[in-house]
Amino acid sequence: MCGIFAYLNYQVPRTRKEIFETLVKGLQRLEYRGYDSAGIAVDGPNKTTSDINSNTICLIKKTGKVKALDEELYKKDTLDLDEELCTHFGIAHTRWATHGEPSALNSHPHRSDKDNEFVVIHNGIITNYKELREYLINKGYEFESETDTEVIPKLIKYIYDNRESDSISFSTLVERVIQQLEGAFALVFKSRHFPGEAVSTRRGSPLLIGVRSEHELSTEHIPVQYNSGHFKEGVQEKNSHNRPDCSNAIDSVGDGRAVEYYFASDASAIIEHTNKVLYLEDNDIAVVSGGKLSIHRLKRQAGEDPVRAIQTLQMEMQQIMKGNFEAFMQKEIFEQPESVVNTMRGRICFDSNTVVLGGLKDHLKEIKRCRRLIMIGCGTSFHAAVATRQILEELTELPVMVELASDFLDRNTPVFRDDVCFFISQSGETADTLMALRYCKDQGALTVGITNTVGSSICRETVCGVHINAGPEIGVASTKAYTSQYVALIMFGLMMSEDRLSLQNRRQEIINGLRVLPELIKEVLSVDEKIKAIANELYQQRSLLVMGRGYNYATCLEGALKIKEITYMHSEGILAGELKHGPLALVDKHMPVIMIIMRDACYTKCQNALQQITARSGRPIILCCQGDSEVTKNAYQTIELPQTVDCLQGILSVIPLQLLSFQLAVLRGYDVDCPRNLAKSVTVE
Ligand code: F6R
Repeated sequence: MCGIFAYLNYQVPRTRKEIFETLVKGLQRLEYRGYDSAGIAVDGPNKTTSDINSNTICLIKKTGKVKALDEELYKKDTLDLDEELCTHFGIAHTRWATHGEPSALNSHPHRSDKDNEFVVIHNGIITNYKELREYLINKGYEFESETDTEVIPKLIKYIYDNRESDSISFSTLVERVIQQLEGAFALVFKSRHFPGEAVSTRRGSPLLIGVRSEHELSTEHIPVQYNSGHFKEGVQEKNSHNRPDCSNAIDSVGDGRAVEYYFASDASAIIEHTNKVLYLEDNDIAVVSGGKLSIHRLKRQAGEDPVRAIQTLQMEMQQIMKGNFEAFMQKEIFEQPESVVNTMRGRICFDSNTVVLGGLKDHLKEIKRCRRLIMIGCGTSFHAAVATRQILEELTELPVMVELASDFLDRNTPVFRDDVCFFISQSGETADTLMALRYCKDQGALTVGITNTVGSSICRETVCGVHINAGPEIGVASTKAYTSQYVALIMFGLMMSEDRLSLQNRRQEIINGLRVLPELIKEVLSVDEKIKAIANELYQQRSLLVMGRGYNYATCLEGALKIKEITYMHSEGILAGELKHGPLALVDKHMPVIMIIMRDACYTKCQNALQQITARSGRPIILCCQGDSEVTKNAYQTIELPQTVDCLQGILSVIPLQLLSFQLAVLRGYDVDCPRNLAKSVTVE
C-alpha cells in the first residue's frame, strides 16, 4: 500500500546519477507495496548560492511500474547526471491508488505550489482530507490532484506563509501539520526553504530510518526531545520553536561528519546499505539537519519510552533477492521446508516434547485462565486461524472464535477483559487488524501478536506475541507466511496443553509430525511437474472450485484465494458439507473441481461429496493421500501427498494449490509478484 523511500547524503559526494540509482533501487525493493505509479523529488540545477530562489526542486513522476519511472529520469536533459552533490536529500514513492486513479498528477511526491516549496511523500490515508481541502481552497490554495495526500503540502505551506517568526524550524511546521491530520500516515518532507534537511513522521503507517557512516555513530540511543503546547490557528505558542538544536551530540545521531540516511516503509529497502536502523513510533518527528538525526515529539505521554534505539537488522541481503526463481512467490513457496524450521527453531524440544514460545511464556497463566480465544486477521492470515481452530479447541479446551478483522469491527463484537485476542498478520501493519487490536485493547482484553515483521505496529502494540520468523515475504500472494502462521498457532496449542495428561498422546503425535514436516514439504514440492501439466489443462478456464471439509476447509479457502488473486480466474473455496445446499448447481462436465480428500475423520463424508460430483458428470482433480486407490478410481486427475497427522495435513495440502496458482498465472501471462489492484501491506481500512 504505497512504498516510501528517501535518501540523504551529508558530506558524502554523490553524482545525481548515483542518487537516482539509489532512489530507484529503494523503490524497486518496495514495489510489492504498490506499483501503479511512481515519482521522485530531487534538487534541481542552479543550486549555487544560499538564496532560496536559486534552490529548485525537480519532480519527476510516471504512471506504471518503477521501471517506467527509471527510464523517464534519464530523459530530463535539464538535469546534469554527472553533477556532484556533496549534501543532498531526495524522496521517492511507489503508489497503490486509493483516492484518484493512477496518473502522473495523482502520483507522489505532492507539492505545495508550482514552485515546489514543499514536497511530500505519503503512505496511508488522511480521513479528514475533505474538510482540510475545503478550508485551504477557501484560503486561496489551488489543488491539482484528486488525492487525500495533497492537503499535506498545501497545509505546510499555509502554516509557513502564516508563520509568526522567520526562524521557524522545518520540524515545527511538520509538528503543526500532523496535529491537523486524522487517519494514518508515514510522511517524508523536503523543502526549498530547508535545503539538505529532512523531516519525517508517522502515525499508523510504518517508517524506519537506516544510518550509514564510516565513523562510529555518536550515540546508539537518542533521547526524544519534547516540545510543549498545542497549535491552534491564530494562537501563538508559548515556546518559540526555533530550529532544533542538534549541537548536543547526545540528542542526535551523527556528529557533523559524513553520514547517509535512508528512510523507508520497510527494512528490505535499507538492508543493502546498512543494518543500523531506527523505528519511529507514532507521532515521532525525525529531523535530519546539519547531518544530525534527532527525534522530536510534542509532549510525553505516561508510560512512554523517552529513548529511541538504533537497532541492528538481522536480515540478510540474499533473503530479499529472487535467486534463480522466476518470481518471489515461487521462491517463497520453495523456501517452506526451511521457513517452517525457522518458525520452530529453538522453540520445540523433540526429546522432552516441550514447546516454549518465549514471547508468551510470562503470560501463559493468564491465557489459561481466559474465557475464550479470539483469532483475528484478514485474507491468508485469517485462513491460518480457520485452519488451526479445531486443533486449538482440542488442545486448549477453550472456545475459539475466528474473525475477519473488518467484520469483527463492523459488528462491534462484544469483547471481555478475560478474553485473549490474537492478531495474525504477516506484515504486522494491516489497518483492519490493527484497528481490531486497538478495539480489543480498549475493552481490556489481553492482546497477542502473531507476526512476521519485527518492529511492526502489531508487534509493538500487542502485550505479547510470537514472531513466525518465516523471513521476508515479498510476493504479494502470501505463501510461506501462511504455513509458518499455521505452525506457530499449533505450537501455541502444544504449549497450552503441556500439563494435560489426557492430551499427551495427541501432543506426542503432533510433535512427531512437526519433526518430519520439513521433509514432507520437500516431498510435496516435487509434485511441481505434475501440477504444471494440470495447469496446462486448466489455464483457459474461467472458473475453478476447490472443495474439502474439516481440517482442509481452510486449505480450500486459501487455495481459492491464491488462484483468484494472481490468475484473475473466478475461484471459490467450498465446504464440501455445503455442496448439496447450493454449490452443486455449479457442477457439470465443464466446471473444473479440485477436491481435497485426506484420510482423516471426514474421509467418508468427502467421498459422499465426490459421489455427488461424479454423478453430475463432474471431473474432479483430487488431492489425496499416497496410495489411496479408493478415491483415485473416481478421479479425473490425482495429486498424491504424503500423509501426516490430521491437524498438520493442511500445511501439506495447501502447497500444490500454491504451485497451481503460480503455474496458472504464468501460463495466463500475468506478473505473479504484482497482481493487478493489490498490494502487499494494506494500510487502509
Ligand atoms: C493473500 C494475501 C492477503 C493478506 C492480507 C493480510 O495472498 O496476502 O490476503 O493475507 O492482506 O495481510 P497481513 O497478513 O499482512 O495482515
